[in-house]
Amino acid sequence: MELIDGKKAAAEIKQEIAAKVAERIAQGKRAPHLAAILVGHDGGSETYVAHKIKACAECGFRSTLIRFESTDEAPLQQSELIAAVESLNNDPEVDGFIVQLPLPRHIDENAVIEAVDPSKDVDGFHPVNVGRQSLGLPCFHSATPAGIVELLKRNNIPTKGKRVVIVGRSNIVGKPLAAMLMQKGATADATVTVCHSATPDIAEITRQADILVAAVGRPGMITADMVADGATVIDVGTTRVADPTRKTGFRLCGDVDFDNVAPKCSFITPVPGGVGPMTICSLMQNTLLAAERKD
Ligand code: GUN
Repeated sequence: MELIDGKKAAAEIKQEIAAKVAERIAQGKRAPHLAAILVGHDGGSETYVAHKIKACAECGFRSTLIRFESTDEAPLQQSELIAAVESLNNDPEVDGFIVQLPLPRHIDENAVIEAVDPSKDVDGFHPVNVGRQSLGLPCFHSATPAGIVELLKRNNIPTKGKRVVIVGRSNIVGKPLAAMLMQKGATADATVTVCHSATPDIAEITRQADILVAAVGRPGMITADMVADGATVIDVGTTRVADPTRKTGFRLCGDVDFDNVAPKCSFITPVPGGVGPMTICSLMQNTLLAAERKD
């Protein structure tokens, strides 16, 4: 069993991006500029956004964080959030931006995503980018799926002709990853099956996977009996589980029962330190691309 080290791959990619940014600066071009909108104080979102801002510094990017408060007593108006999105759409100094999800329940996430200019949608969430991705056209690829594909590539794990089973059909992981891996191409060409909450006997399907991707958000749901000997297992889960022995009071739990599944695998990602750092790298790569497109 070999552990897929997402942290190491991410550090290498950030160095590669930083070198390209240094080259841009030497040519008199601007540093790429990523903005992030964060609504409220969800713990997971605070952490992700802090990591994204830190990654910007590591890559030599400029970053801007725009915060909105929203409470039950004083909820943020959707129109105010959309006005902030439109202001970033029109800001020539901003190459790309993200609206950190999830948003408070009273806000229509799709309306906010659709308000983002597709040419600045470095999360790859806008229908234009999702559609272009599924057609195999140039686009901003969704960050987590692109990170997973990069991780497979850097670990020389072939996808061509392989059976990939994805558990979870979210708009930000399951669906776009399926679209990416079923494309023609060197880092795709897989036979993809997507399982979800209405799939009967998921284990019977996951056992056929050469590459099994768990993206459900249910700690430990992928147990050893669901995994074939020699499979590659990619764990996208990052659920916070209370842990009084930790300073933070919680630990991050993947969707895979790691201790029992790992011995059966040829490759497996840990949580944390697997897919998470790669998602942030994809965002950096998309932001660099956004800046390059404007040159
Ligand atoms: N929430 C969970 N993952 C993501 C992501 O990749 N981007 C944004 N904007 N929000 C998220």
